[in-house]
Amino acid sequence: MDRFELDPAIKEEIRARVLGEGFMKIVQTVRRGGKPFRIAMRPVEIGGERKFQAEMNDDGRVMVKNFSIDAAAEGLEQILNQRGARDLHLMTSTGDLHLRVTKKGKQLVSRSAEMSRVAVVRPHDRVKKLPLNEFDSTALLKACGIADGSGNIRASMRGKYDQVNEFLRAVGETVKSRDGESFTVVDCGCGKAYLTLALCSYLSEALGMKGVKVIGVNIRADVIESARKMASRLDLQERAVFIESDIASYNPEKGERVNMVVSLHACDTATDEALAKAVEWKVEYVLSVPCCQHELHKAIGASRGVEGAAVFSGLLRQSILRERMCDILTDSFRAMIMRILGFRTQVVEFVSYEATARNIMLRCEYGVKPGQSGPIGEYLALRDYWKVVPWLETRLGTVLSRHLERYL
Ligand SMILES: C[S@@+](CC[C@H](N)C(=O)[O-])C[C@H]1O[C@@H](n2cnc3c(N)ncnc32)[C@H](O)[C@@H]1O
Repeated sequence: MDRFELDPAIKEEIRARVLGEGFMKIVQTVRRGGKPFRIAMRPVEIGGERKFQAEMNDDGRVMVKNFSIDAAAEGLEQILNQRGARDLHLMTSTGDLHLRVTKKGKQLVSRSAEMSRVAVVRPHDRVKKLPLNEFDSTALLKACGIADGSGNIRASMRGKYDQVNEFLRAVGETVKSRDGESFTVVDCGCGKAYLTLALCSYLSEALGMKGVKVIGVNIRADVIESARKMASRLDLQERAVFIESDIASYNPEKGERVNMVVSLHACDTATDEALAKAVEWKVEYVLSVPCCQHELHKAIGASRGVEGAAVFSGLLRQSILRERMCDILTDSFRAMIMRILGFRTQVVEFVSYEATARNIMLRCEYGVKPGQSGPIGEYLALRDYWKVVPWLETRLGTVLSRHLERYL
């Protein structure tokens, strides 16, 4: 038997799970001649009929095809019979299966715990309607290096492409009812400006919004210089401006109204700084995807002995679990603070875990009464349980404490 030939029992399990009820997605990545070949298949609904959609990405060249169930079964055999080291991830409503085939042909299989998820079969047009396809984004994608010279999405940039698409989708859903003469967005920690430039074009060209201006802020001079060059090359320099600054030191020019703050993976407390600025500038919308966060890790690590928190000692001992729990707590505090300060706040997974493990987005829209007792009570209870003071609370100072003090 060929060393890459899959175990027959695994093949049979995968067939049954893909062709049976509750199938959500199968993704396999193989390296061929040192280059990645990725194939993903998922169910779609076309004209009321259930079909399968396969997306092949051959080192950046993307091809999408729809199949009947019979053709999909044949396609699945090809997936299962591929040779070489590979990773396969299968998702169904009852759980996930991961299969890794090493270079030596060793097959490592793991299965998630039993789940009960709803397998949504998305209509075909929803699958295809990507925000970056709603306007001519070819030049933009090439300029910022997401696509190669032929316009194909680079395999290494696939995750960023998905992140930008889904971030734009979230922006579109948030501002859909907006109708004004001008709209200014500040992208805090804009980095290489993938999102900043895409937002600028998407808001004006796809959503038809007037007076769009996007301001990218980053602490690094080289990053800002290259973002400015890209904006000029795309003739966006009037509407996409880039400022070299720490977020903390940046403020819009006198009389300039900021409508929205966005941040995508702004490191550590830079996310808090973006949220604090959004509060101070009295923006209408905030869409923020946090990145790594270290402050609570230290504080909670040290609070192992905290009375009450002792029940968590088994969890806190495991550094990965401690890190995840601290991330969740940090984002919970952020969401609660935004809610206390008058923002309707949702925490959503804005993109798949495959595109980025940091896929949590805080989606906030100003419009509820600030300082309500319910959110304040919840915040104080959680904060005091862990005996920590989240950095965002410290940063906001009296803006927040005047609400909290009434309940202390
Ligand atoms: C992980 S990158 C993300 C970049 C971009 N938003 C993206 O998703 O492609 C984070 C960026 O934030 C910048 N950054 C970190 N802390 C900052 C701060 N306090 N002020 C301004 N920029 C900051 C870094 O220089 C880096 O370019």
